[in-house]
Amino acid sequence: EIKGGVPLGYSTHRRWEWVYHQRSIRGEVVFQAQGRRQRLQGQRLSGNRDNTYPCLAVKPIMEPKLYRPPPEVRGMTSLDKDAFTQTITVPALRVPIGVLNKVVKSLKKSSIQRPGVPRVVQDKEQSSDFRLVLLDPRRVSSPSSFSETEAEALRSFSVSEELHYYELKLTYDNLKSEEVLEAVLPQGQDVTSAFSRVGHIAHMNLRDHQLTYKNLIGQVIMDKNPGVTCVVNKMNIIDSTYRNFKMEVLAGEENMVAKVKENGVTYEFDFSRVYWNPRLSTEHQRVVQLVKRGDTVFDVFAGVGPFAIPAARLGASILANDLNPESYRWLQHNCKLNKVESKVRAFNLDGRAFIRGPLKQELPVLMRGTSAVHVVMNLPALALDFLDAFRGLLHHQEPPCDENLPTVHCYGFSKDDDPDTDVVERASRSLGFPLKHRCSVHFVRNVAPNKDMMCVRFTLPKDVLFGSDAEESGKESLLMRSSKKNNNKTA
Ligand SMILES: C[S@@+](CC[C@H](N)C(=O)[O-])C[C@H]1O[C@@H](n2cnc3c(N)ncnc32)[C@H](O)[C@@H]1O
Repeated sequence: EIKGGVPLGYSTHRRWEWVYHQRSIRGEVVFQAQGRRQRLQGQRLSGNRDNTYPCLAVKPIMEPKLYRPPPEVRGMTSLDKDAFTQTITVPALRVPIGVLNKVVKSLKKSSIQRPGVPRVVQDKEQSSDFRLVLLDPRRVSSPSSFSETEAEALRSFSVSEELHYYELKLTYDNLKSEEVLEAVLPQGQDVTSAFSRVGHIAHMNLRDHQLTYKNLIGQVIMDKNPGVTCVVNKMNIIDSTYRNFKMEVLAGEENMVAKVKENGVTYEFDFSRVYWNPRLSTEHQRVVQLVKRGDTVFDVFAGVGPFAIPAARLGASILANDLNPESYRWLQHNCKLNKVESKVRAFNLDGRAFIRGPLKQELPVLMRGTSAVHVVMNLPALALDFLDAFRGLLHHQEPPCDENLPTVHCYGFSKDDDPDTDVVERASRSLGFPLKHRCSVHFVRNVAPNKDMMCVRFTLPKDVLFGSDAEESGKESLLMRSSKKNNNKTA
C-alpha cells in the first residue's frame, strides 16, 4: 500500500489494469505502481477513504535531472523564454575525427540526448583533428561509469577514457514541456501537461491550481508540439445534451474548425460545437468492420459521422441521425467531403423520434430482405434507456416468416464491479426482455478510474418488435413470455 499519496497522474490503460504515479513534494514521479482490479475484489482504487492505494508492484524511478531551472522562473505567468537559459557542465570525451562516427554509435547510451542539443562539438583547446562527444552527466561521472562494451569499443578505437568538461548552454528550446512547467508552477503541485489532439487543436483539462498559469501552459504546449496552433481548456464537464464542451482558448488562433483523419477518413467540424473523441477510433473501426456492402445502418446518435461515413464507403446504406443541429450540419458536410452523400440520409431528430419514425418506416421492408441491418446507438450516458423505443415498434404488423432481425450495438457507461452484467441487465429492463445469454458485451475503454464504456450487441428480439407496446404490462408479459420459453428450452 502507498499511504498518503494523491492519485495525481494515474491511468488505466486496459480494463482491469491501472498505473499509479506518486509525486514527491518537488513534483517528480517517485513511485510507479501497477496492479489489476480483478485481484482486488471489492476494493476501488479511488474509493479508499483512508487515502491508501493497493498495489502489487512498486518501482522507484528517481532519476537526477539534467536541467535545474533558475529559481526566478518559479511563479512566472507570462512566458519569458530567455529566463530559462542556463549553462550546465557536462562530461565529454576527446575523440579523433577519423573514428568519430563509430565512437558516437558505440556510446549511444551514455551520450547526451536532447532535442536541439548537439552530441558532438568543436574541441576549442585542441587542434581541428579532434571533437568532443558530450555525455549525459546522469550516466557518466567517471571513466568507470562506461559499460564493459563501451569501454571495449573505446579501447579498440584508441580513444582515451579520460573525461573532459564542457559548458553547455541549455535554452527554452532544449527543454521538454514538463520541465518548463515544473519550473514555473508551485512546487509540489501536479504539473501534468496531458492533452488530447484534434487536428490543430490541443485540448486540456486544467486543474484549479493550474488556472493562474493557463496562458503560459497553453503557449508551452503550442511551442513544444509541432502542428498544434491552438490550445483550449475545457471549462465545464461535458454538456449533457450534445456531449460537447465549453472551451476557452489559452494560446494560438481562435479557429475551432478542425480537420482530422480517422481510419483513413477525413472529417471536418467545429470542435467547440459537436462531439468528437479521438479515443474512439478503434471502436468505430471494430463496428464498421462488421458491416458489409448492401447492409443498412441506422446510426441513432451519429455525431459528425465516424460510424456512418466509413460504413457508407464500404457500400452500406445509412440513415444517420443527431439531435444537435451543428452535428447534423457537419455530418452532411462530411458526407460531401467523402463523396458518400448518395449513400447517407441525414436526420436531425431526437433518438426516440428517429427510431419511431424513419427506422420504423424502413424496417419492415429490410426485414424481408437478406442484407444485414445494424442499429448503432453511441450515447453511452443514455442509450440503454432509449432501447425502450423498440418495444412494440411493429406491434400492429404481421411478423415476416423468415425475419431478418436487426443487430443492435448499444453503448453504456458502467460504474459497477461487474460492468458486463450491469449493462446487460439495464438493456434488458429497457427492452422489457431478458438479454442474458442472447447478447455479447464488449469492453470499449475505461473513461475514469471506475467507469467503463461498454457495448452490448444483440439481435433485436421479435417479441420486442412485434409485442405489445404498452409500457408496464408489456414489460411484464415480455419478460414472462420469454423466460417461459427459456425454461421450456432448458427442459
Ligand atoms: C457520444 S456522441 C457520439 C457521436 C458519434 N456517434 C461518435 O461515435 O463519435 C453522442 C451524440 O448523440 C447526440 N445526441 C445527444 N442526445 C441525443 C438525442 N436525444 N437524440 C439524438 N441524438 C442525441 C449528441 O449530439 C452527440 O453527437
